[in-house]
Amino acid sequence: MTSDPDPTTVRGLTLLLTLPEGDCVVAADGGPVLSTGEVAAGEHWLLDTARRVALQTHGFRIQGMRTVAVAELGPADPGTGLQVYGFATGGPDGGGWTDREVPLERLPADRLAARLAASGDAAAARFVVDAAEARRARTDEHAAADNLRWQAAYLRAETPWGQSGNSGTYEDWERSRRPVAAAIERSGTFLDVGCANGYLMECVQAWCAERGLTVDPYGMELGPELVALARQRLPRWADRLWVGNMQTWAPPDGLRFDALQVRPDAVLLERRAELLAHLRDQVLVAGGRLIVTMAESGPYGTAAALLEHSGFTVAGAHGHVAWADS
Ligand SMILES: C[S@@+](CC[C@H](N)C(=O)[O-])C[C@H]1O[C@@H](n2cnc3c(N)ncnc32)[C@H](O)[C@@H]1O
Repeated sequence: MTSDPDPTTVRGLTLLLTLPEGDCVVAADGGPVLSTGEVAAGEHWLLDTARRVALQTHGFRIQGMRTVAVAELGPADPGTGLQVYGFATGGPDGGGWTDREVPLERLPADRLAARLAASGDAAAARFVVDAAEARRARTDEHAAADNLRWQAAYLRAETPWGQSGNSGTYEDWERSRRPVAAAIERSGTFLDVGCANGYLMECVQAWCAERGLTVDPYGMELGPELVALARQRLPRWADRLWVGNMQTWAPPDGLRFDALQVRPDAVLLERRAELLAHLRDQVLVAGGRLIVTMAESGPYGTAAALLEHSGFTVAGAHGHVAWADS
């Protein structure tokens, strides 16, 4: 698979937008098929441009992106820069399909490629075929490597919630994350799976304390630099922050947790039920609480739907957070 180019050389992006289960998303009624845009001054092509352009052209919120091909913009003059071609996964911003400025249509990649070929755009048709194939060939390792690249965006953020992947205000963060604390009904240990800079650990402890609960927070995270940041921010918890991959990680010394929170959209769609079973069997105490956050659309696009599909009985839900007991 093609690797990412040197960021300083990228001038433009062309993305095929896809849903977690594989269908493509295009603008309906003859609007743009692919999401294309230029890298603006001061932007990083992946961390800034990809997200901005997909929102602008299709109202589509990107969760992940992979490079499929890279082309010189001016083949005669290599100094002109590069155009990156790739596929992005994610969903319509806000979830709605029809009540939006850019009405969207979803369709399988082979139908989209056939449509483009029939309209005479052979190059775009070939790109859709290649991007869809690259997307189908993704592995757990690709998903982890892709997630690791976003670390840089978290590390450069200026607020503690920004360093945990929330680009809004504190109020946005609280609205999004308080349901995790609301799902905890007993004092005990809490593990944040994919804890970034550790801010949710702190917030869950404080929000639970408001209800008289004593929560002892722990964290694990894929990105070593984020774990280093979390340890630096929270030196009192340095020995309860671990680097690992949530798909395989098990706590040291036979530790188990009374509750944990996870965002399964970090892994491939077909691996999410397995991830939840792993966390139940290797990480939670028997009868422990599994709290799931899902930001995505798709067939199991709500946390409750994913829990049910994975064989759990949903004990409660609030917005994009749902929980079950193991
Ligand atoms: C959006 S942040 C979540 C921050 C906080 N836990 C929350 O829920 O608000 C997602 C974090 O999950 C981490 N992550 C992604 N894939 C992972 C994996 N396979 N194993 C562990 N952590 C992962 C990312 O590096 C990122 O820091």
